[in-house]
Amino acid sequence: MDPAPALYAIRIEGQLGATLLAAFPAMTARRDGADTVLTGLLDRSALFGLLAEIEALSLDLLEIRQLTPPHERTSRRVLEMSISDSTVAIIGTGNIGGILAADFAAGGQDFLLAGRDQAAAEKVASGLGGHAEVVSVDEAVDRAGVLVLALWLDDFRQLIARYGGRLAGKVIVDPSNPVGPDGAGGYKKVIGDSESSGLILAGLLPAGARLVKAFGTLSAPTLSAAARREPERAVLFYAADDDAAGDLVAGLIRVGGYEPVRVGGLDQAIRIEMYGDLHEYGALGRVVTRTEALAAI
Ligand SMILES: NC(=O)c1ccc[n+]([C@@H]2O[C@H](COP(=O)([O-])OP(=O)(O)OC[C@H]3O[C@@H](n4cnc5c(N)ncnc54)[C@H](OP(=O)(O)O)[C@@H]3O)[C@@H](O)[C@H]2O)c1
Repeated sequence: MDPAPALYAIRIEGQLGATLLAAFPAMTARRDGADTVLTGLLDRSALFGLLAEIEALSLDLLEIRQLTPPHERTSRRVLEMSISDSTVAIIGTGNIGGILAADFAAGGQDFLLAGRDQAAAEKVASGLGGHAEVVSVDEAVDRAGVLVLALWLDDFRQLIARYGGRLAGKVIVDPSNPVGPDGAGGYKKVIGDSESSGLILAGLLPAGARLVKAFGTLSAPTLSAAARREPERAVLFYAADDDAAGDLVAGLIRVGGYEPVRVGGLDQAIRIEMYGDLHEYGALGRVVTRTEALAAI
């Protein structure tokens, strides 16, 4: 019988660009010195297929390392991959993208940062002590295993339509609140009252991509002020159908300086979107501690 999949790190000489990385959609890529390291869960035939692809592209294979001990070869193991093993990217360098970039950098997390406007991304990255590597959106999609899409709902939809299958295997983090201007200086929901942008977006993703709703429960100024709060961390709620993806994003929430509390699966995402009962602009109406959050759930 074919052994269960295992986690592999495959080192290739040179820094692979977005076009070459697109040949390995199931792998997370990171640069290590002059090399590129591809990490991912592979069964035997996927491993052989990947090696054949490396050969066909005339790439120089330097090392294949199995990260999963044989007795722990289960897919659960990947779920236990910590955020520090993952390549994280933020796409979008506006209010939320900029705050999360600062939060992740303050937590010592290295990440890719991409926007439509390279100069704006460079400006955000410049004050972050080298933790942010500015790349194109294409490159962020191809290299990152965890993509925080700090975009408005329509842009988020368009990005999914554009990249489609290239998002397979990725964890997609969704902070979106489905609102727009109401014409009177306020906001109104731009989808049905009982609809959730998290569920809508999850339904648009290709098979194998896993959406986690997170980082959208607080307004930008509150989010920024609440990072690394003492003596008790401020809670950021998240919702995930996939335990592994949820655990990864919980790690990212901690790195950002907040306390993660899972509200449930994506069918609960509406509760942590704007006007939901666990949102700052909903019944909850404020920042909460873990104890308060657990009582509110
Ligand atoms: N602001 C808040 O208080 C708040 C709070 C919680 C959650 N959220 C949610 O977070 C999301 C982002 O909100 P925000 O306030 O950060 O918006 P924002 O300041 O307008 O930033 C959005 C960013 O997305 C970029 N963008 C749009 N399409 C792109 C694409 N295809 N590729 C790369 N970048 C793209 C924009 O780039 P350009 O500058 O080139 O247009 C802009 O930098 C929204 O879904 C919102 O509902 C916002």
